[in-house]
Amino acid sequence: MSSARPDEVAAPRVADDISLPELTLRGLVLGALITVVFTASNIYLGLKIGLTFSSSIPAAVIAMAVLGLARGSNILENNVVQTMASAGGTLSAVIFILPGLIMIGHWHGFPFWQTAGVCALGGILGVLYSAPLRRALVVQSDLPYPEGVAAAAILQVGSRVPGAAAPPARDAAEAGLPAIQVTPNQGKLLAILAQSIAARSILEIGTLGGYSTIWLARALPEGGKLLTLELNPKHARIARANWQRAGLSERIELRLGTALDTLPQLVAEGRGPFDLIFIDADKPNAAAYLAWVLNLVHPGSLIITDNVVRRGGLIEADSQDEDVQGMRRFTEALAEEKRVEAIVTQTVGSKGHDGFAIALVKAV
Ligand code: SAH
Ligand code: DHB
Ligand code: MG
Repeated sequence: MSSARPDEVAAPRVADDISLPELTLRGLVLGALITVVFTASNIYLGLKIGLTFSSSIPAAVIAMAVLGLARGSNILENNVVQTMASAGGTLSAVIFILPGLIMIGHWHGFPFWQTAGVCALGGILGVLYSAPLRRALVVQSDLPYPEGVAAAAILQVGSRVPGAAAPPARDAAEAGLPAIQVTPNQGKLLAILAQSIAARSILEIGTLGGYSTIWLARALPEGGKLLTLELNPKHARIARANWQRAGLSERIELRLGTALDTLPQLVAEGRGPFDLIFIDADKPNAAAYLAWVLNLVHPGSLIITDNVVRRGGLIEADSQDEDVQGMRRFTEALAEEKRVEAIVTQTVGSKGHDGFAIALVKAV
């Protein structure tokens, strides 16, 4: 069974063929600075209270935070800073603290040279292995370990590497699209509904960057098809690139134009019936879209419509918001419609409180 995960649209790690600056002057300076500060703190704590702290996690966090602010920083550069800072911090603490403990007369009954040797060896091996090991985690290698992938995802936080995982929400924002795509939990709900009726043909009205499109297309079985309608050519271009990256171009078709033109075209061409229809375009026309799509379904089809709650806005009968008024007309038409059985259900997610109308077609 396919588990639809549009957030895996992009390669999860840095592809092998992407070359990025790894050893940079600012990285070296930052790594050295963190090392000096951590070493000084560790010496102070070690000599004062006999305890030192592990520098690797705070070093990683500081390196990510500081480099994240720098222009054009990348995960491999970050990796070097983290490695330098954590290994360097630990190693130099050992180098200073062992002699320090002797100098202040706290060293009794320990074999000094063996201890120093073990610490030095551990530190050197740590430095030698840490950088390549971390690199192997963040580069697209065939490491089979899920821990490695999980660690890579953490190391990658804040990185803006081309080809690295980026949540579609950020892709949309970076592409200059409004952040009005369905939330991840709504996307998954769409995918589960599509799979539970074994939908083989899907129609979507309102593509934007193709986020809901990808959730739905991934829910299709082999040979299934999705047709999506979009008015804005820029949105269409970005959406096409997104499902190309997701490897879904074969099963998705986009028709450009206002849905008030393209829906009658589909009816005239005898397209359909569709097993599932997702209405998510301009709100004032939602009731008109419902009327049109009822010509493109069969008994058992699902018609799902987004934005029917709008943070409770839909209960305001005299709202001045034309989107609210449009969706009120839609829900009233749906309630009147004898050919469907319908429910409005609320959704809460990263975009707040809204809802889906889910209509099951009983007759056509
Ligand atoms: N379903 C998408 C979000 C769609 S946003 C997702 O969840 O990922 C609404 C989209 O409808 C926008 O891209 C907008 O350009 C498009 N749209 C607006 N008016 C339209 C119309 N008359 N015909 C077709 N698409 C329209
Ligand atoms: C908004 C949200 C949507 O899901 C949508 O389709 C249109 C607009 C919004 O939050 O404005
Ligand atoms: Mg919507």
